[in-house]
Amino acid sequence: MTVYDRGEAGRGASWAAAGMLAAAVETEPGEEPLLPLALESQAMWPDFAREVEAASGVSVEYRGEGTMVVALNRDDAAQLRHSYEFQKGLGLDLHWLNAAEAREREPHLKPGLAAAVWSPRDHQVENRQLGRALALAARGAGVELIEHCPVVEIVIAGGRASGVVTERGRDPADVVVLAAGAWSREIGGIPPAHLPPVRPIKGQMLALQMDKAAPLLRHVLWLPRGYLVPRLDGRLVIGATVEERGFDSSLTAGGVFALIEGAWRAVPSIEELPITEMWVGFRPGSRDDAPMLGPSGIDRLVVATGHHRNGILLTPVSAAVISSYILTNKLPESARPFSPERFAALPARTGRLANARAAR
Ligand code: GLY
Repeated sequence: MTVYDRGEAGRGASWAAAGMLAAAVETEPGEEPLLPLALESQAMWPDFAREVEAASGVSVEYRGEGTMVVALNRDDAAQLRHSYEFQKGLGLDLHWLNAAEAREREPHLKPGLAAAVWSPRDHQVENRQLGRALALAARGAGVELIEHCPVVEIVIAGGRASGVVTERGRDPADVVVLAAGAWSREIGGIPPAHLPPVRPIKGQMLALQMDKAAPLLRHVLWLPRGYLVPRLDGRLVIGATVEERGFDSSLTAGGVFALIEGAWRAVPSIEELPITEMWVGFRPGSRDDAPMLGPSGIDRLVVATGHHRNGILLTPVSAAVISSYILTNKLPESARPFSPERFAALPARTGRLANARAAR
């Protein structure tokens, strides 16, 4: 199998992300259909992390401390109560906390916060370590991983995909998987009706450095605006803006200000911490914010993109769904609502993949 990456492997949205595995607290009204897939993937994470670590020798820092959602004032608390009732109604394991209970878990939260919700099953992973580990694990399993090599075109002839064109020339393939995130429409060769409807959703983020031996926070915190994710090395990741600005990669004063102000309102002692990094990433957003997994409508061309805000969470289930589809020509039941064919302008043909192998 050959994987082509336009840059360094794992340096796209997977690198920019915060690594939250937040099936419960990130579920908003309208996203109910995604919940079973998100919960399935969340349940796969502990074994997936162990497997990737064993194969790569790299820790992905899967942490099981849970997540807290914080309301700072009465308006926030009313909004939080609304989300809490909605998410509880979906059967999710969440617990309402008063201010004292929240501060018992996170003593650096501002005194006088209004309330919080405790989510014992939403955890985190170090997504940049995950990228490194997956690249090593893939190479160890015999994958040819070719970095800094954009795919210029997918070769489609006679209604089926048969290879890719890169600066190295034309490489034949039994099956092509289009998994180029926010860049998935930039690759040539795919007829417009079959291009996945994915677009970049810009996110600005930054990191502060806590004292590693005495970190200010231990849990992932969701705030009225944004979130805080403490890492084992003392980094405190603060995210993220959600902007429709194409591939504009600029950090803006307004974006960074909003992130720092939102974090400072919840945890005032961050004001002493040095800023160590600021960055921009591009989530691959689809029309309904859910991923596209499976048939493209073109024989032997499979799609895995559109993960929007849930790429790290959905990693294990996406890998399982795509490999199962390639091997059996069938989508697992839980992935059927996420077939890219739901967006097809014309009735799509089902790819015939029986007897096919993944790529070359
Ligand atoms: N899942 C977090 C984000 O997209 O910012």
